[in-house]
Amino acid sequence: MKAHPAKVDTANERLRSILAIVNDCYFALDQRYRITDLNQSAIDWVGPTQSRVLGACLWDLCDPGAECSRVIREGMEQRRRVRREVMSGLRPGRWIDLQVSPSADGLSVFITDITERRSAKEALEELSGRLLNLQEEERQRIAEELHDSTAQHLVAAGLNLMRMKQYVSPGDGGKLLNETADLVEEAARELRAFTYLLHPPSLENGGLAGTVRDFAAGFTHRTGLSTTVQVPEMANHLPFDIQRSLLRVIQEALTNAYRHASASRLVVDLRTGRGILKLRILDDGCGLAQAVRKMAPGGPLLGVGVAGMRARLVRFGGDLKFLSDGRGTMVIATLPHASSSPA
Ligand SMILES: Nc1ncnc2c1ncn2[C@@H]1O[C@H](COP(=O)(O)OP(=O)(O)OP(=O)(O)O)[C@@H](O)[C@H]1O
Ligand SMILES: [Mg+2]
Repeated sequence: MKAHPAKVDTANERLRSILAIVNDCYFALDQRYRITDLNQSAIDWVGPTQSRVLGACLWDLCDPGAECSRVIREGMEQRRRVRREVMSGLRPGRWIDLQVSPSADGLSVFITDITERRSAKEALEELSGRLLNLQEEERQRIAEELHDSTAQHLVAAGLNLMRMKQYVSPGDGGKLLNETADLVEEAARELRAFTYLLHPPSLENGGLAGTVRDFAAGFTHRTGLSTTVQVPEMANHLPFDIQRSLLRVIQEALTNAYRHASASRLVVDLRTGRGILKLRILDDGCGLAQAVRKMAPGGPLLGVGVAGMRARLVRFGGDLKFLSDGRGTMVIATLPHASSSPA
């Protein structure tokens, strides 16, 4: 049944008035890639060349080999919606969020200029990368200071207490001395664990695989959570910055599982395959709270921990995701990886 012409006119009019006020640029293409319509935002965005645009063939204005042109052809030829962030062919140098959608007589093209947003994002990533480097340098400096100075003072205090034993008679004085010696010993142990967390020296000497195993053993000892580690020796040959970032991601994920998940078992699993490196940390805890899951589609962003994990990966072109239900949480960190050995 055909729509009444008056109704079609009204619908078209309504559509035109909507397109006239939206901020997105709108172009209509016919099947021969001629521009048959464009809205005010598109006219403003195209600028001085606008008089040439209406009725022109797209390929006279835009390099047919450009990525944006490929997206447009894909939508037209395969009759499907496509959305991608690409460099503009109409205005070289500008980044656009390009969406194409098949229409009755060709293709509707929607463009949002995201150049400023992208630059701001890149600047932010660059800044967070520099802050993370500074943080690591600061941690190393504090760890070395504590190890070389404070820890040595504690050792000296412990030795002095041992020597004092010969001058103190058994009884209350001797008991107090023994207790004090135990406290000094305990403080030295805590300091060693703390400096290790601040700057694990084994990462520089032995590499990621052994460091993660050591860390997990210490973690299991302190928390009682059973932790299984599968990190291949090849991880020791990754660039040092990447090993350090992966270690920090693992440390934060294990700490989160302990603090928030009420888990009893944890698995750390690192693999490579098809050009990516995939790190998974699984726990069998309560899963992310509903409120946290709703915060952001890509994962929770409540504390500093998760944001730091993500920033450590993004700076190497990687990403972080969470899969979670009532039976536990899986943290999935991915990084591009040059070798394509099987997973
Ligand atoms: N394994 C997990 N199981 C359950 N909830 C988790 C898990 N990991 C993270 N969460 C939730 O995600 C939130 C954000 O974690 P995030 O590490 O960013 O912050 P935090 O641990 O609360 O604080 P901090 O800044 O000290 O790390 C947590 O508060 C917690 O609710
Ligand atoms: Mg945390």
